[in-house]
Amino acid sequence: MRGIVWDGQLNIRDDVDTTEPGPREVVVRIHHAGLCHSDVSVINGTIPFPTPVVLGHEGAGVVEAVGSAVSKVRVGDHVVLTTLGNCGQCSACDRGEATLCKSSFGALTQRFEIGGEPVYGFANTGVFAERTVVNEHQAIVIDPRVPLSSACLIGCAVVTGAGAVLNRARVRPGETVLVIGAGGIGQSVIQAARISNASRIVVADTNPRKRAVAEAFGATDFIDSSEAPDLVAAVKELGLSDGVDHAFECVGHPDLVRVAIDALDWGGTCTLLGVPRLGTEASFMIAGLYNNKSILGCRYGATRPHHDIPLIVQLYLDGRFQLDEMVSRNYDLADIGDAMSDLEAGELNRGVLDLA
Ligand SMILES: NC(=O)c1ccc[n+]([C@@H]2O[C@H](COP(=O)([O-])OP(=O)(O)OC[C@H]3O[C@@H](n4cnc5c(N)ncnc54)[C@H](O)[C@@H]3O)[C@@H](O)[C@H]2O)c1
Ligand SMILES: [Zn+2]
Ligand SMILES: [Zn+2]
Repeated sequence: MRGIVWDGQLNIRDDVDTTEPGPREVVVRIHHAGLCHSDVSVINGTIPFPTPVVLGHEGAGVVEAVGSAVSKVRVGDHVVLTTLGNCGQCSACDRGEATLCKSSFGALTQRFEIGGEPVYGFANTGVFAERTVVNEHQAIVIDPRVPLSSACLIGCAVVTGAGAVLNRARVRPGETVLVIGAGGIGQSVIQAARISNASRIVVADTNPRKRAVAEAFGATDFIDSSEAPDLVAAVKELGLSDGVDHAFECVGHPDLVRVAIDALDWGGTCTLLGVPRLGTEASFMIAGLYNNKSILGCRYGATRPHHDIPLIVQLYLDGRFQLDEMVSRNYDLADIGDAMSDLEAGELNRGVLDLA
């Protein structure tokens, strides 16, 4: 089958196989997969990952085969895949903190083969391939009314961004929000802040073309930060002289971590979503945090996949979370190079690969 394999070069291959599913694993025929910046980060070395690896971790498709002990997922089900392979048996899982399960991070699965040699799947999934094999509980059954071309975004961008707002920062009605970076992650933060009834949603992006999508999703203000050398001052000039209650860093740059902290009002919370190069440090004034300010790390939106993915699906079906509008272009698998160039050039809300 076809798949995109990174081994120091980006290869579009047609000789990728999956392994046979184990008793609790399922084979999913991937229909669509979103291109997240984290895939690009594997290629440019920002996120180290062993090779060869099938890229892609934001996918949706149809269950094609199930292992002998699978009970919750059936052949033909429409599913969104989650990267979390949490165990369901540890204290973190019992507390409802799936992203803190020690089994859920750093699992290096090799459920692909080329010529009989094992191949990794990125982030426990590997969805830039026509099929992938995952644990039964990584395949979340969704209402088939959601087009898979939109549903795929739920698997990373949406749970990460919306989860950061709803699960981690817990934005309350009336609070003020700053979102730095309006890519797929930032767009999901904006929408969840709107659903949380934030009173102001200020979005800053260096790409002025992101104004339209930010405003369509609920931004009350947009700052073209390429024109704003002092972003903190630009935020405060919007009638927010005390700062904001929440700042979300959705780019992955240490200078923007500092901005996000400096833009906070007393008692404010800064949530870090962007992933800079491994080893990157950020600096800030310790005194600046004095008035009960907080910095929160946030992996994968502190998501509980079996709770949050159906929630997003319901919000979509109710017309409250816009997924279709996040997809600006669809690409054939062979055009991954174009998709990555368009992402880097800031042309996309989200680009989606078609594999059906
Ligand atoms: N925490 C997590 O679990 C998690 C999950 C997925 C992705 N990520 C990370 O989130 C980040 C964003 O991912 P994405 O897919 O949304 O990326 P993206 O490339 O789609 O969007 C990034 C946006 O940031 C803007 N930007 C770039 N530099 C900027 C600057 N200096 N100031 C303001 N805006 C700027 C770009 O114009 C673009 O709109 C990446 O670092 C990615 O690795 C984290
Ligand atoms: Zn991602
Ligand atoms: Zn666990």
